Amino acid sequence: MIVVIIKENFCLAPFNTFGIEVLAYNLSIITNISNLEQLHKAGKLKGRVLVLSKGSNILFTKNFDGLVLLNQMWGKEIIKETAQYIYLKVNAGEFWPSLVEYAVENGWGGLENMTDIPGKVGAAPIQNIGAYGAEIKDVMESLEAFNLDSGEVETFSNKDCKFSYRTSIFKTEFKHKYFITSVTFKLSKQHSLNISYKPLFEAFRDKNIDDITIADVSSEVAKIRASKLPNPDNLKNAGSFFKNPVVSKDKFNEIKLSYPDIPNYPLVNGDYKVPAAWLIEQCGWKGKRQGNIGVHEKQALVIVKYGKASGNEIKQLADSIKNSISKKFNIELEMEVNIL
Ligand code: EPU
Repeated sequence: MIVVIIKENFCLAPFNTFGIEVLAYNLSIITNISNLEQLHKAGKLKGRVLVLSKGSNILFTKNFDGLVLLNQMWGKEIIKETAQYIYLKVNAGEFWPSLVEYAVENGWGGLENMTDIPGKVGAAPIQNIGAYGAEIKDVMESLEAFNLDSGEVETFSNKDCKFSYRTSIFKTEFKHKYFITSVTFKLSKQHSLNISYKPLFEAFRDKNIDDITIADVSSEVAKIRASKLPNPDNLKNAGSFFKNPVVSKDKFNEIKLSYPDIPNYPLVNGDYKVPAAWLIEQCGWKGKRQGNIGVHEKQALVIVKYGKASGNEIKQLADSIKNSISKKFNIELEMEVNIL
């Protein structure tokens, strides 16, 4: 039996997209379920454990004084095929952008609006990733996750995951309790395109819907993303730093009196979702730089790191942004990025 190796004082800079230089007291590379079983048997999963994939939604403010499980579980397979659907089981360590590319190349629909979201497959359901009118909850059939406590692999249906806007059961009651090992997607062979999101709709305005392919949608999404969102390979960031807040109708109408052009998404229950990026911009933060960190010049929801900076500096900037929105609009922004 190959014994799983535990490394000590391991620098996590390459494993978080902010590139923050912190140490993991212990780190183990996980390539398969038996690695997890061995660690469980040896009692190594009893203390503080952090499952880390690409680290594209995390901000480290200090060293991690526990065991980091680095997700490197590669591989994918078709487990079922019907006239209409492909059921693709993907191991947690596969890169999300490569998965989308693979599905699009094969003509399987459902992932194309989520082209180029940085990160790995196993992390995607945790915060129900989404972009341009689609979310993982729309295409996920089920997932398998290793229970760090019991050492058993459990299956979660889509419903079990309790998905909603940028959250799931793995971000709430089961936070840090499971290692997601694989995700099964239900992809469509006879797809219907989703181009209702404004910039996509505008891009295809002059085209007949029957002439648009999922590859067209994917490349348009890639273009829109590249024009607004910084690629963490070139400029360190963790995507949207805050969630878009939801406010009551009364609150919304009150803001609208002073800001008639406030962008908004009315929700079925009568509340309104308001873009946090707009609120941040109104408070004068867009494009602002403080030393080696700042607010992105093209998308105010993204905090960027230009050079060496600590996680605490970023956290302080985020807090200042949050405070100014609270003062000006009486809205409490919620951080989307996990702060550790
Ligand atoms: N806006 C501004 N200023 C800005 C940017 C945007 O006022 O600097 C306003 C505009 O009115 C725009 C509206 O905000 O119409 C919405 O902006 P955008 O379409 O860029 O989307 P978002 O709400 O800022 C969300 C997701 C992104 C996702 C995009 C596209 C969240 C927290 N963020 O951003 O997800 O890519 O929609 O679907 O829901 C991520 O989660 O890391 C992420 C990047």
